[in-house]
Amino acid sequence: MGAPLPGLEGLPVITCHPRAKINLTLEVLGLRLDGYHQVASVLQTISLQDTLILEESDDLSPRCNLASLEGEGNLAWRAASLLREVSGCPRGAAITLEKGIPPAAGLGGGSSDAAATLQGLNQFWGLGFSRERLLPLASRLGSDVPFFLYGGTALVAGRGEQVTPLPPLPSTWLVLLTPSIEIPEKTKRLYGLLRPEHFTRGEHTRRLVQALETGSALASSHVYNVFEEVAFSFFPGLEEHRRALLQAGGGQVHLAGSGPTLFALAAGQPEGEAIKERLAREGLRAYLVVTCP
Ligand code: C5P
Repeated sequence: MGAPLPGLEGLPVITCHPRAKINLTLEVLGLRLDGYHQVASVLQTISLQDTLILEESDDLSPRCNLASLEGEGNLAWRAASLLREVSGCPRGAAITLEKGIPPAAGLGGGSSDAAATLQGLNQFWGLGFSRERLLPLASRLGSDVPFFLYGGTALVAGRGEQVTPLPPLPSTWLVLLTPSIEIPEKTKRLYGLLRPEHFTRGEHTRRLVQALETGSALASSHVYNVFEEVAFSFFPGLEEHRRALLQAGGGQVHLAGSGPTLFALAAGQPEGEAIKERLAREGLRAYLVVTCP
């Protein structure tokens, strides 16, 4: 950040870095009476991040470096309005969001921004809300938002609102490949494509939790995502991206959340860098990231 504007020196500013996530497992156990799906998932934050800056302002004034995210649909702006409404706080905030996480990519960027906005404004406005009090607000904003009030490695159940922190995963390097495929309401539509034969009983998630409890390194065989059953026929061009990641050296390719981002585990940082470089040379959008405790 640059120097404060003249006259604004000394005013409080909060800067934070909401992180992206991947689902190491994502199982759907069944359909719920409320129309959502019952999930069992292990989520993990990764080093790809946005920047969120909160500054004094009389009203709520949001700004984003991506014009497409300036609108009222942005989850961070909705989080700010919701917190102000629920707390009755009369103060405002200038909220600046600089996106580093590609939007609508299956990496939870919008959800992470929303959780960081709740936590940041809670502090900025001195509300003193506990995490337990923020959780129902996070849940109202989206199924992935509660997880980001914790971050790290966590078991997620229900429709996403039940979060249990897990022992941290040993640092793992990953290469992400984010195709530029935008499909409106893709998460809702992907859930809609699932059939009972795609439902599982949480066994993949339990196996990974056991591995985490014994401190084992993450292996591709631990990773599971139900949406892989339907995503490759849903996202045009996703299969070509999968092959590109395989050819660049990604041993096994997995889908991140509801996609379309794909990822592969790397043996270490140098191998990950080499895979990412090969993809970048083909003009593809690739990132080398590491898991964050
Ligand atoms: O909660 P969120 O707004 O992120 O969910 C987007 C859509 O994904 C929902 O409208 C719903 O159709 C679907 N969904 C679901 N079960 C979940 C989470 C999301 O069916 N556990």
